Amino acid sequence: MLTEGEKRSLETFVGKPVDEIETPALIVDLDAMQRNMDKMMRFLSKNDKGLRPHAKTHKTPAIASMQMQRGAVGITCATIGEAEILADGGVFDILITNRVVSEGKILRAVALTRKTDLKIAVDSEENLIDISDHAHKSGVEIGIVLEVDIGHRRAGVRTVEEALELARLASRLPGVTYEGIMGYEGHCVFIESLEERKKVSSIAYDRLLEYKDELSNAGFSPKIVSSGGTGTYLLAGEQRGITDIQPGSYIFMDARYANVEGVEFEQSLTVLTSIVSHPEKDIYICDAGTKSMSQEFGLPLTLPSLNLEATNMSEEFITLVSRPDTLREAEEYLGNLDELYGSAGFKLGLGSKVHLIPSHCCTTCNLHDVLYATRNGVVTNVWRVAGRGRFA
Ligand SMILES: Cc1ncc(COP(=O)(O)O)c(C=O)c1O
Repeated sequence: MLTEGEKRSLETFVGKPVDEIETPALIVDLDAMQRNMDKMMRFLSKNDKGLRPHAKTHKTPAIASMQMQRGAVGITCATIGEAEILADGGVFDILITNRVVSEGKILRAVALTRKTDLKIAVDSEENLIDISDHAHKSGVEIGIVLEVDIGHRRAGVRTVEEALELARLASRLPGVTYEGIMGYEGHCVFIESLEERKKVSSIAYDRLLEYKDELSNAGFSPKIVSSGGTGTYLLAGEQRGITDIQPGSYIFMDARYANVEGVEFEQSLTVLTSIVSHPEKDIYICDAGTKSMSQEFGLPLTLPSLNLEATNMSEEFITLVSRPDTLREAEEYLGNLDELYGSAGFKLGLGSKVHLIPSHCCTTCNLHDVLYATRNGVVTNVWRVAGRGRFA
């Protein structure tokens, strides 16, 4: 957590060129991010679907506010800790998709209802009864969204009968309001071939609609039917019966999603790093590492015109090696950023600043206290990633 003094000192970078920021630092190009937001909104509006973007990606109230101002129906988040900072930032409709189980967290959820229209996903009677008890005792209402499994085999009830039981209970218990269902097709979002993704996700959506129809037939018609991520927005966004989708990464993008066919958003997020050692002719060492960029989806990319390849990553080092080849297919989507941060003809040396593309934007964001918002290569804002580290 930053002190006010630290934040003020970072704010001295506002108005300065990106290259002057101390590294490693998380950078977003506002124009590209806003184009991504607008593209998603246009697509969903055309299909008469709502957008409930997932804030686990950015964990930044300023960005959630931009999403709401652009017409999102609400914000999705993973944890009660994230929900608290979003509500403090003025987000008036929040869905927590992960379980809120302990008494302490349920009491925090109860308190949150005074700031936002709160909905929590549940998948068990025990959890539902606990939420109802605490909400009722405190005289508040918490929205309930039943999580149903549609093939991902993570959380979520596995059968229509269980969903019916829960819907019955949620409609009867005090302190809670049955709002609908959500099913996340997490096993589909990274399938690279669009055809294959369509095939697998259509089975998932059939399952989601089966839940929806059975609940409706039993008198529990869900107002919310929520699904979808960045990799499936095109498919969930056109699927009959779904009311809103929950993509997160589309605003930033990353090297993994870049390989997912049809997910055509611009890379807006980079980690700025400095070359701190040049021990051999073709080897450059920079000051980012696993403490400033996550690695679970692989090594980062560099901008195409640098012709550098990341070959190794440790805590505060990434090894970049010159490579003679030209643009790889996966890097074509970086054209805009390459133009913006212009590395063509640029002679690399000690202290040179290099933009890296994270392999996973969500977990990389979670490593940073601040996000530098930039426009045309100049810092316009320094945002606190206030939800960073708020797992609990
Ligand atoms: C419940 C839920 N919804 C949506 C998403 C989509 O996120 P993204 O668009 O970043 O893939 C996720 C990703 O983990 C998720 O867990």
